[in-house]
Amino acid sequence: MAIIHDDVGRRRFLSQAVMWFGALFGLGTLALRFGQFLIPSQKPKRYEAVLIGAETRIPMGEAVPMDLGGHKILVLKTDTGVVAFSRRCTDLGCLVSWSKDQKQFLCPCHQGVYDQAGRNIAGPPPRPLDRFDIIQRGGQLYVSIQGEVG
Ligand code: FES
Repeated sequence: MAIIHDDVGRRRFLSQAVMWFGALFGLGTLALRFGQFLIPSQKPKRYEAVLIGAETRIPMGEAVPMDLGGHKILVLKTDTGVVAFSRRCTDLGCLVSWSKDQKQFLCPCHQGVYDQAGRNIAGPPPRPLDRFDIIQRGGQLYVSIQGEVG
């Protein structure tokens, strides 16, 4: 009988030890994440100019899709110039596409619509498309991509 009693006591002890370890680990992780939320990373942001080619490569009125180091963008050429927007819809992140006929960016997921300046004009998107700066050097276009140093 005594052996059975010891076995139950050991199981209870191990069960509680695992539970407490899990609870402490969970609370520690939560506290760490909360601290990171309160005190954001102080790493400086850097901008990298990525060559996308000559301006003549982009047809007037068209938006050319590109993938620059994981940033999916659309480079649009209109009579006001060349602009680059993120393809990520600001609603839930689906990829938008350009409609040349409608002169709008369209999101297929929930019918979000952006005008050619990237402004959200219909549907659920809460804000405009993210925009990337275009730099022109010697007839070549570069897109300024933000990254973290280190
Ligand atoms: S993800 Fe684009 S409208 Fe919802």
